[in-house]
Amino acid sequence: MVISKIPFLNLKQQYLNIKDDIDHAMQQVINEAAFAGGKFVASFEDAFAAYQNTNYCAGVNSGTSSLHLSLLALGIGAGDEVIIPANSFIATAWAVSYTGATPVFADCDAYYNIDPTHVKTLITKKTKAVIGVHLYGQPFNVEDLLQTTEQHGLYLVEDAAQAHGAYWKGEPIGSFGALSCFSFYPSKNLGAFGESGAICCNDKKYYDAILKLRNHGSLEKYQHERIGYNMRMDGLQAAILEIKLHHLEKWNYSRRYIARRYQEGIQHSVVQKPKIREQATSVFHLYVITVPDRDHFVKHLETCGISCGMHYPIPCHLQEAYRHLNYKKGSLPNTEFLAAHCVSLPIFPELHEEEIDYIIEAINQYKR
Ligand SMILES: Cc1ncc(COP(=O)(O)O)c(C=O)c1O
Repeated sequence: MVISKIPFLNLKQQYLNIKDDIDHAMQQVINEAAFAGGKFVASFEDAFAAYQNTNYCAGVNSGTSSLHLSLLALGIGAGDEVIIPANSFIATAWAVSYTGATPVFADCDAYYNIDPTHVKTLITKKTKAVIGVHLYGQPFNVEDLLQTTEQHGLYLVEDAAQAHGAYWKGEPIGSFGALSCFSFYPSKNLGAFGESGAICCNDKKYYDAILKLRNHGSLEKYQHERIGYNMRMDGLQAAILEIKLHHLEKWNYSRRYIARRYQEGIQHSVVQKPKIREQATSVFHLYVITVPDRDHFVKHLETCGISCGMHYPIPCHLQEAYRHLNYKKGSLPNTEFLAAHCVSLPIFPELHEEEIDYIIEAINQYKR
């Protein structure tokens, strides 16, 4: 195999591998004109709840909406504080702000996830909830965070946008918090053909609240019990996701395999590989290393034809949009170190064995 370019992700190839099933599923939705909500959405919701081992699943139109509606279902609003990791995609913070509450940013631990010890120091009388993000596909320290939230009477919400199918001590993530939030953005381990998301939970009262909130505050046509939103899942996305769900375990297995190859194969004095939690089964949405001189390192990989990413180069607490919260540079040192040095390597199920070898070789030959 002659390798000239390795993309960060190859969604076209993923589609081609399952094209017939996807095309058939989409045609069924079109034949039945079941575009907004409807039986394909209900069918996917049942399948995904069973997969994540929760009583309920409500499909919505994005991962951001899943977080937003979850916080609203918990009654969170103006005057409340919600503790979240500064090392996350910005949508985790947006959801808090949309409700009128204030995000309070916690630093990350050695696994790049929310640090439960730091969370404890941030709790005030106004704190109502903590959002733990299973970042990069690796579960956060569920036990320690749950202990803290239970002790202080706080809600735990799981942001599982990057972790479909991951486990904590053999239990699927998504069933530990009051609610868990999933994104099906196309690049996710389980990705739609557009925007999509879901909320899983075990408590019927939260589920009922979400059903109303996502549908203009209504369960019966033209009767609006509360102010709601148009945040329903599309039928087309649901049908596509249900086909893809059958492949998720196999795809996650491939991601774990590639991560193992990287863990074993990458041997370079300046490259820091991610720490893997023993209690967790990660699904490696991302494989993030750190290097001292990132620009130089990324240039080297580009010269070798390897595309990489950065997750995330500016932490949430230092974003312009949150300037009014007055966080200073240096306030969350672990997160800020990661932001300055992180590099995400290609990790997707369609990556060939020779490409994995090539990436490892290119990294090991890097000269500073
Ligand atoms: C950790 C995290 N939370 C929330 C989201 C938001 O999901 P979406 O893009 O589907 O709105 C994402 C997706 O990018 C994410 O990675």
